[in-house]
Amino acid sequence: MKGMDGLRGHLVREYRKRTAKSRAVFLRARKVMIGGGSHTIRLWKPYPFLAAGAEGPEVRDIDGNTYVDYWQGHYANILGHNPGLIRRGMSACVGRGALHTGFEAGHQIELAEALVRAVGGGDAKVRFTTSGTLATMYAVMLAQGLTGRDLVLKVGGGWHGASPYLLKGVNFRAEEGFEGRESAGLLDDIVRRTLITRFNDGDDLRRVVKANGDRIACFIVEPFLGVGGFLPASREYLELARSLTERHGIILIFDEIISGFRFCPAGVQTLYGVRPDLTTFGKIIGGGHAVAAVVGPSKLMEGCERSGRDRVMFEGGTFSSHAEYMKAGLIMLGHLARGAATIYPRLARAGEKLRRGVERAFAAEGIAARCTGDGNDVIRGSSLFMVHFPREKEAACDRPEVLHDERRMDRVLREDLLKLALLINGVNVVHGGGAVSAAHRERDIEATLAAYGEAARLFKKYLG
Ligand SMILES: Cc1ncc(COP(=O)(O)O)c(C=O)c1O
Repeated sequence: MKGMDGLRGHLVREYRKRTAKSRAVFLRARKVMIGGGSHTIRLWKPYPFLAAGAEGPEVRDIDGNTYVDYWQGHYANILGHNPGLIRRGMSACVGRGALHTGFEAGHQIELAEALVRAVGGGDAKVRFTTSGTLATMYAVMLAQGLTGRDLVLKVGGGWHGASPYLLKGVNFRAEEGFEGRESAGLLDDIVRRTLITRFNDGDDLRRVVKANGDRIACFIVEPFLGVGGFLPASREYLELARSLTERHGIILIFDEIISGFRFCPAGVQTLYGVRPDLTTFGKIIGGGHAVAAVVGPSKLMEGCERSGRDRVMFEGGTFSSHAEYMKAGLIMLGHLARGAATIYPRLARAGEKLRRGVERAFAAEGIAARCTGDGNDVIRGSSLFMVHFPREKEAACDRPEVLHDERRMDRVLREDLLKLALLINGVNVVHGGGAVSAAHRERDIEATLAAYGEAARLFKKYLG
């Protein structure tokens, strides 16, 4: 059978042949776990492989298959899986009795100092927590508490985790664009109070701020849009965001949970030369562990130290600044700082080779595919890549409104079919691509491009 169904049938059969043990475990998991696992994005169809171990650029499943991995721990593992230097550092730490939580100890001060440097130094303070979702939630609460205002502004396509204030305008739907709520269980009032503006669109930002400026507590934006499409903010956009928010007393939050330490050994804000009020970090800063943080000037962060009802209850949580995790983060950031001159240019070259190589692999079979993830005049190179299949060849892939619109992009082809086509060729991706790590070698990149070539030939055979 030709067409999408024929292709899907072929891919599922091939995947099942290779992953019988994973399937059996998945069926067992489904009896006791929602959807058979712990995170929706890991639960692709027909079922995910079960990881047996991961090392450097690769992950191994329980059936004995090995995949070059670009998911890399939700983009946290910039040095690849299980880096020896972090493993060794943590073993020593555990040996000294550091497997504890609930005390102020360990390396949290040094990690906090590194994060203060990462936003340009000066009079900044840090509070740690354990997930990006919590960091952005606390940052928004802090902004609302400090300003006494009740509106939150974010961009369409911006993903900041599942905090109630920010569960709007992540997915694009034909009937409502980015104006929809993302979850049941949210108070209508909170959903109404979250406003959406278009990413990289200065005019739209001016319009929203002009209409609501004195009620907006904060504007939260990723300087490099992650889930929304791997798109860098323009310098002018962030400068405008800075000046408008300053003028209207709005707290500007840069969510650097993906972009922090991804393009340079600091927040990407240091490349833009635009300093927000608050910054959220996560992912890379934990060296593969559950560490996230909010960083900002003392006069704002001290909102958590007030007394009585004016206090913003930003408690990091039971596992905040876990001694072992702090150590892992410190090793990670130290290594990135010392190796920056070689690590980041190498990552950028590999990212570029993948982005252009993937486009060429599909073009060779007459299929239009585009990769986002490129830098711009500020971010000179990038290790990220996301694949898109435009329904019209010439579609401009530079806005989340386009990339998320099923009418303009074939997202089923990417999410369901490309995923499986690459898995049966030994490559694991997310949204058709992912993040290169420092552990990916030249031969991994070549093998990856060969796998995309196989996927493109299969697509042509069934869909051409
Ligand atoms: C930009 C951004 N902010 C926040 C989050 C939420 O982080 P976490 O998954 O650690 O809760 C994510 C997660 O992907 C993210 O990409």
